[in-house]
This record gives sequence, structure tokens and C-alpha cells, in this order.
Amino acid sequence: MKVLVTGGAGYVGSFTVRRLLNAGHEVVVVDNLTTGRREAVGACRLHVVDIRDLSAMGAVFEGFRPDAVIHFAALKSSEESLRDISTYFDVNVTGTQNLLAVCARTGVRRFVFSSSCAVYGTPQICPVDESAPARPESPYGETKYLCERMIASYAQATGMRYANLRYFNAAGAADDASLGEHAGPGATQLLPVAVRATLGLPPSLTLRIFGDDYPTPDGTALRDYIHVEDLARAHLQALERLDGEDRCGPVNLGRGHPVSVRELIDVLSDVSGKNPEVVVAPRRPGDPGLSWADPGLALRRFGWSAERDLHHIVRTAWDWHTRVPASLE
Ligand SMILES: NC(=O)c1ccc[n+]([C@@H]2O[C@H](COP(=O)([O-])OP(=O)(O)OC[C@H]3O[C@@H](n4cnc5c(N)ncnc54)[C@H](O)[C@@H]3O)[C@@H](O)[C@H]2O)c1
Repeated sequence: MKVLVTGGAGYVGSFTVRRLLNAGHEVVVVDNLTTGRREAVGACRLHVVDIRDLSAMGAVFEGFRPDAVIHFAALKSSEESLRDISTYFDVNVTGTQNLLAVCARTGVRRFVFSSSCAVYGTPQICPVDESAPARPESPYGETKYLCERMIASYAQATGMRYANLRYFNAAGAADDASLGEHAGPGATQLLPVAVRATLGLPPSLTLRIFGDDYPTPDGTALRDYIHVEDLARAHLQALERLDGEDRCGPVNLGRGHPVSVRELIDVLSDVSGKNPEVVVAPRRPGDPGLSWADPGLALRRFGWSAERDLHHIVRTAWDWHTRVPASLE
């Protein structure tokens, strides 16, 4: 299949591009390299283009004529989106609208979208399944929900098949440390932040836990961490199953196992043999206390379930960041 991947030079995108190529697909990446890295796409063809640039996007599509699109390109921090709403709506919503317009014009038949558990906000019931109401608590979550709705509308009008994949917390790296996440001093994701503190890297040598008064066994927030290789595999399985009349709408991608902030830090201490200093800070606004997936629909629709456990996630992240120090610059 000819697959165009937006955001393919980023974290989840680069793992997916590698898998697509290994599976024999023809792949082209579109990425403006705001957070992505040229080296992450390897030998794959890369167009350094902003998805908001309609005419440049049109030229890429006319030249490649993809059968399918996997759309990762976006800004992804809930926290940052509270401070910069208009850029988030511009990149995530206007960018997706442009992309859909080009897809409709050039007859793209399959579309896989990186949505997020941020669509649920704080779920009323966990594990949360796809029938739960969308109640985003940040502009970032709002943009993801709006994109899901736009994709559904375009699909209805054009007959395009689509899957809106709602990821929980992507983490981990390649087993051989050949690919992983880049997390500089501004990173907010717990695992890279914890790795930085464990290695004594700025901005903070102490690791802050935001809130220890949640209604959870140890009082810290519960999340669902999913290995990036498992996520990448889900995209291929979704793409391959999107045929016939299938329009599958939202599908959760998580392990379905809640992990507390303290538990993650404990596993990192085991893996690294080090104990960073930990302090408790107040809860952060817009941070759900409990959020983990019911991943049953992904199993029923695509035959997908996560294979890598928490220890594997933490060990590969630790190996990657310690073997590739540039990943923390
Ligand atoms: N990482 C997670 O835990 C997580 C969880 C839920 C959803 N998601 C979603 O998955 C997708 C990928 O996330 P990631 O963690 O790989 O992030 P990432 O920042 O590593 O990748 C995003 C990629 O998009 C590119 N990009 C950004 N704006 C662009 C634009 N205007 N035009 C072209 N390219 C642009 C970036 O350069 C980068 O390569 C995002 O849509 C994100 O919202 C991620």
C-alpha cells in the first residue's frame, strides 16, 4: 500500500514508519520538523512541509497519490495548550482540515488518526471504553475531539474508511536503543522527566509528584502506559483491517493496566539502581487523577492487544536515554 505519514519524524510516527517499511509498504513522510528529527525517518522519503500549507500539501499528494494516510502531526501538550490555545487550534484543527481536504480531492481511501485519551478528560468510570462521553479538559483534548468529528464527516461524505485511535500514555523505546523519544529540559511526560531527575539533569534534580491525595491506593494519579512499539503495530493492524464498509470511529489503545506515579518511579529505581529525590507538589489543573483504558474494542476490531509490560517500557526508555544522551538535550 502507498502510505503517507504526517508527523512521521516524531516519536510514535517514526516507529510506525519503520514498521510500515519492514512490512513492505511504500511510505512518504510529511513533517515540518518542529519536534521531529530528520534522522528518525531513516531512508524514507521526507517532505519538510507544514500540514497547514495547503498548496505544498497538494503538491505532495499529487506526486505520491497515497492509498492511505496516517496522521500523527500535531502539538501534544495539554499543559502548553492552556497557554497557547490559538497555535493548538491552528496546527491541530486547521492542519487536519487541510489534510482532509487534500485527501478528499485526491481520493484517499483509508485514514488513521492519532487521537488521545485526553478526549475523555477525567473519565467517570475506569477502565474507560469508547462509549464514555467526550469531556476534554484542555484545549489540546478539544482539538483531538474536533478532529475526530471532522474525520467522521469527511468519511461520511467521501466513503473514506477511518480509525480514530485514542492512545493512552506512549512510552518506551526500541529494544536495541536505535529509536526513542526526545525529551529536553522542557519535557512534561513523567517517564522522561523521571529519567532526567534520576540522571541529575536540569531543570530539576528532584522529581515532583503532582498530587498524592487522589482516591487511589497510594494517593498518586493512575495512568495507562503503552509501549511505543505496541502502538506502532496497532497502526498497521488498523490500516490492514480498514476495508469493506468498515468505518470504525474511536478505538482505545492502552494496556488496560493502571499504573500509579509512585509505582512507575519504583520500577525506574529498580531498573536504574538509583533513587532520585522525590517531593510532592499540588495537583496540576487539567490533570485527570485516574485514566486507564478498556482496550477490548481494539482486540475485537483489529485483533490487537499490547504485548509489552511496564518493566519492558521502563527498561527500554532507560537504555535509550542513557545510551543516546542527545535524546535528553
Ligand atoms: N505521545 C503520547 O503519549 C501521545 C498520546 C496521545 C496522543 N498522541 C498523539 O500522537 C501523535 C504523535 O505524538 P508524538 O508523541 O509522536 O509527538 P511528536 O511531537 O514526537 O510528533 C509529532 C510530529 O509532528 C510534527 N509536526 C508538528 N506540527 C506540524 C505541522 N504543522 N506540520 C507538519 N508536521 C508537524 C513534528 O515535527 C513531529 O515530528 C500526536 O498527534 C499526539 O497528539 C500522543
